[in-house]
Amino acid sequence: MKKIVILTGAGISAESGVSTFRDSNGLWRNNRIEEVASPIAWENNRELVLEFYNQRRKQLFEVEPNDGHKWLVKLEQQYDVQIITQNVDDLHERAGSSNILHLHGELKKVRSTRDPELIYTLDHWELKDGDKCELGSQLRPHIVWFGESVPMIEPAVSVVTGADIFIVIGTSMVVYPAASLINYVNTEVPKYYIDPKAFSVPGISNLSIIAEKAGTGVPKLVKRLLKSE
Ligand code: APR
Repeated sequence: MKKIVILTGAGISAESGVSTFRDSNGLWRNNRIEEVASPIAWENNRELVLEFYNQRRKQLFEVEPNDGHKWLVKLEQQYDVQIITQNVDDLHERAGSSNILHLHGELKKVRSTRDPELIYTLDHWELKDGDKCELGSQLRPHIVWFGESVPMIEPAVSVVTGADIFIVIGTSMVVYPAASLINYVNTEVPKYYIDPKAFSVPGISNLSIIAEKAGTGVPKLVKRLLKSE
């Protein structure tokens, strides 16, 4: 089976009602990164950070996967599909995708502030000050904050180097190291970029631009790929 590797960003969840970060009305238009998504923020104002992620987690229990997520599942009929997502939502999982690597963490997980290996799944939306891990330390969102390392980047690079087809969906390609993954795809491999603001990525060949929303662009591409196999 041919291997399709898919890099997704906030744009694939936009039609589910989940805000992106840098579009008009995006999360970083309405919140200051250094106040809600960095280790400094956690030190200076833990309540504000907890509230920021609690509100996003609360919304996640209210939204559903959209056609962008759902059509990627259909590809598994004929391809070995690996999803690498920058998203912290669980919409790929809920759509039924089998292989998902989260680069930037997961909103429905929390972890110990003493031992980062101690990770727990939260079955409700609210994480409170005083909620502790089994070692007695405060729990924090299991999210990669700005200025923190991205532990899953190496496994992601090895997945990408094995791609027969590479698809990018709904990401502005401005955040590294995630945006560098396309550089590890073999030159002759066909690549597709689905995003209303998709652009020709410098130095990348065999890249087809599909300047559409995921909800329409993904079904179109999936139909083509299923037919062509
Ligand atoms: N379908 C497809 N793409 C869309 C849609 C849609 N319906 N709506 C918006 N987009 C596109 C925008 O054009 C933009 O290119 O989604 C992209 C969203 O870009 P960002 O807001 O920058 O989000 P993302 O690229 O996922 O951010 C990367 O930055 O803030 C950090 O850790 C956070 O994982 C995140 C990372």
